[in-house]
Amino acid sequence: MTKMKKLLALLLALVMVFALAACSSGSTEDTAEETSSEEFTTATEGVLTMATNAEFPPYEYYENDAVTGIDAEIAAAIAEKLGLELVIEDMAFDSIVAAVTSGKADMGMAGMTITEERLESVDFSEPYATGVQVVIVAEDSAITNVDDLFEGGYTIGVQSSTTGDLYATWDLEDTGLCTVERFNRGADAVAALTSGKIDCVIIDNEPAKAFAEANEGLVILDTAYTEEEYAICFSKDNTALSEAVNEALVELMEDGTVQSIIDKYISAD
Ligand code: ARG
Repeated sequence: MTKMKKLLALLLALVMVFALAACSSGSTEDTAEETSSEEFTTATEGVLTMATNAEFPPYEYYENDAVTGIDAEIAAAIAEKLGLELVIEDMAFDSIVAAVTSGKADMGMAGMTITEERLESVDFSEPYATGVQVVIVAEDSAITNVDDLFEGGYTIGVQSSTTGDLYATWDLEDTGLCTVERFNRGADAVAALTSGKIDCVIIDNEPAKAFAEANEGLVILDTAYTEEEYAICFSKDNTALSEAVNEALVELMEDGTVQSIIDKYISAD
């Protein structure tokens, strides 16, 4: 009898412990959801404004009059999760960080590489894709690998303020080896290459593939310049929003949505 009572008491205690655990974990989940869906504010109520530079296929580019691509689709999925309408603002690549820090845009998403310098002015989400800086040259170019650039004497085209610009400037221009020409659009740099005005273009691998396919006589060097990670940037002053967006992004990575969007645009080869 007493044994039975002890057992009952023990069982009851166990039940209470589980009930408490369930209850407290339930309530933390509730508050977490509340913080992410209620406390953040956006530039325009009910709208998630994304700053981008739609010159960067397959991440962002125009199809008819609409901006489409990997970033546009991931952003749409994030907006849907947060119950917001996505509005995409197309601007020069080097205006994106300012649009975000001034609060005009809620986030910058533009195949943007996480860099030390950018981290001084903006926060970044978890990385969602990898980029590789590659070199595009004319088929008959004297440049056959990245090391050739360090022989010097070449004119290198880049999209202004991109990491391709930064590396070319630091490694090849500041050292007096080469000259760097900065273009507003990657496509303009490629056009200058096609017409023989410059010797190569340093740009991210996926747009490089698209540009090389669209223009006769261009090849991408097998040796890559450097590898990097793309992430969404935010103002450092709106952490409730950046946390909510990041949480949505992580969920979309975990459930495979991000990968399936990437696979839609990039064939594994
Ligand atoms: N990944 C490079 C960077 O962050 C280039 C990005 C260019 N993106 C664009 N949408 N034009 O600098």
